Amino acid sequence: MKKLTAIFSAAVALALAAPSLGQAQTVIKFSHVVAPDTPKGKGSLKFKELAEKYTDGKVKVEVYPNSQLYKDNEELQALQLGAVQMLAPSLAKFGPLGVKEFEVFDLPYILPDKAALKKVTEGPLGKKLLGLLGAKGITGLAYWDNGFKDMSANKKLLMPADFRGLKMRIQSSKVLEAQMRALGAIPQVMAFSEVYQALSTGVVDGTENPPSNEYTQKMHEVQKYTMRSGHGYVGYAVITNKKFWDGLPADIRASLEKAMKEATDFANGAAQKDNDDALAEMKKSGKTEMVELTAEQKAAWRKALEPVYAEMEGRVGKEILVEFQKEVGGATH
Ligand code: LMR
Repeated sequence: MKKLTAIFSAAVALALAAPSLGQAQTVIKFSHVVAPDTPKGKGSLKFKELAEKYTDGKVKVEVYPNSQLYKDNEELQALQLGAVQMLAPSLAKFGPLGVKEFEVFDLPYILPDKAALKKVTEGPLGKKLLGLLGAKGITGLAYWDNGFKDMSANKKLLMPADFRGLKMRIQSSKVLEAQMRALGAIPQVMAFSEVYQALSTGVVDGTENPPSNEYTQKMHEVQKYTMRSGHGYVGYAVITNKKFWDGLPADIRASLEKAMKEATDFANGAAQKDNDDALAEMKKSGKTEMVELTAEQKAAWRKALEPVYAEMEGRVGKEILVEFQKEVGGATH
């Protein structure tokens, strides 16, 4: 009798978990390139939790972190082909798709702080930028934050002259290429999943990341110095395949939008602490020396990077640049 009861209870539990009759379960594959314990990693898991909850299990989200499913130069095409349904690429990675305007976020020192960032990502300009993805069969759902970048290398980078001839890994962004050249370095575009190996073998000499990425990819173990420069920003656009998204039943889409809104608040609320914690862990490890720049050194970096604005204005669009600088409270350059 006991066995029968157990089987019956299991059958009831299964029926309750399964989607309502007549509607096959929708699977969302959410692929990304960073570790789970990062702002983007946590945001994707929170979205999974809430999407499955709010759709009563009619939607299942499969999260594939750390480039497990697709790496940098594969994921956008996979989304367009419908092989995955959701990504959150860095804003620095939309150039190859032909949406160069997002590289405005890569301009050195363009964001004075996170409050200024919000004016863009939560305002009309952020909406306009996401709207540009429609022509590529992509729907932009949200902006997720990470943080400001530090420069790392196996030598101290105090003045621009220290960068001369160094091979510096960057994301696939022409603005970041111009940034590294303006410092005298040689930019090397490389998939995020390959950076640790390239640093440890000397294929590249250094790179730039927020602390949460440097730490979770163990780059601090193969970079003697981390310059606390905060010279640039890493953030994400959470995106989905437009055909998939438009094809969802309206009630399911509404539940997913609610889940995305709450996951966005959660991820953005955690970003600063994730980076602060990563910085503390790297300091504790003693594997990389944290280098604070003097006011004179910071001014020299800014001066060297000033020309990037004029050089890249045509790429990101003068109108976008002017609107961006207006939103963030006046020209930072
Ligand atoms: C990078 O490639 O450096 C970053 O975009 C990784 C990430 O997605 O945070």
